[in-house]
Amino acid sequence: MSVALQYNLTTGEPFLRLPPPFSNIIITPPRMSDVEPSVAIMDDPAVAPFMGNRLGQYTPEKAERWLAKVKAQTDAVVEELRTGAAETGGPVSGCPVRHIREERADGTEVYIGDVGLVRSGWPEVHDVEERTRLASANNALPAGDPNIAWHIGYYLAPSHHGRGLMTVAVKTMMGWGIAWLKARYIRSSAFEDNPGSQKVLLKNGFVLVDTLVEHVQVGDTKKTLYLIEWTAPS
Ligand SMILES: CC(C)(COP(=O)(O)OP(=O)(O)OC[C@H]1O[C@@H](n2cnc3c(N)ncnc32)[C@H](O)[C@@H]1OP(=O)(O)O)[C@@H](O)C(=O)NCCC(=O)NCCS
Repeated sequence: MSVALQYNLTTGEPFLRLPPPFSNIIITPPRMSDVEPSVAIMDDPAVAPFMGNRLGQYTPEKAERWLAKVKAQTDAVVEELRTGAAETGGPVSGCPVRHIREERADGTEVYIGDVGLVRSGWPEVHDVEERTRLASANNALPAGDPNIAWHIGYYLAPSHHGRGLMTVAVKTMMGWGIAWLKARYIRSSAFEDNPGSQKVLLKNGFVLVDTLVEHVQVGDTKKTLYLIEWTAPS
């Protein structure tokens, strides 16, 4: 599978294009104009509970803070690529794209979801000191270090669920990450009641490594979390 970034001729933005039958789907850096559509998707009853949110909890203010943070991360990698890494073939310190867009016949690009391949921050570790220690050590590893623990997380607009799209989006991001990040270890997780997400990972070669029983408080219930990981074949 091709893992090459392409560049938008007008804006200069890098993007990955999914293979057929999803060739009208691209993955680009986040844009601040994604605030409104991202709130609409994240606050949908078919999405919110699986992201650990109650309805109404994901506000435009939260989205704005989140987008500013992830955009700063992807902007930094775009700059790394621009200032030499693209020419040398990497490695780079992170992934410059994550927002999934559908190209429509009229030329518009509609935001339909997020697939983020980022350095793991061990979100499942409740102890703040331990989580910070693990994340700091991971963030300190240089670009291309095979010991970096990556994390992949995602959501998709309900209008596009069940077509096989996220399975292919994750596969595409992994292909890029293996080539440009030298990724060898990717962590993820899904709630017990989210078979769709579990399958996306399993279909991409991830395996279940741990079950954290009643681990995450979502509303009034404690949800069981599956830790699911991919390790490069040796
Ligand atoms: C999870 C999610 C990203 C899956 O995306 P998707 O594009 O619909 O997934 P795919 O179509 O690639 O499906 C992958 C597999 O899971 C199955 N699947 C998808 N949704 C399912 C569901 N609700 N129940 C059971 N199986 C499901 C598909 O049938 C497919 O298996 P198959 O190839 O054997 O038929 C999407 O449903 C979503 O955004 N959900 C809300 C947010 C979320 O859960 N994010 C992940 C948090 S861990």
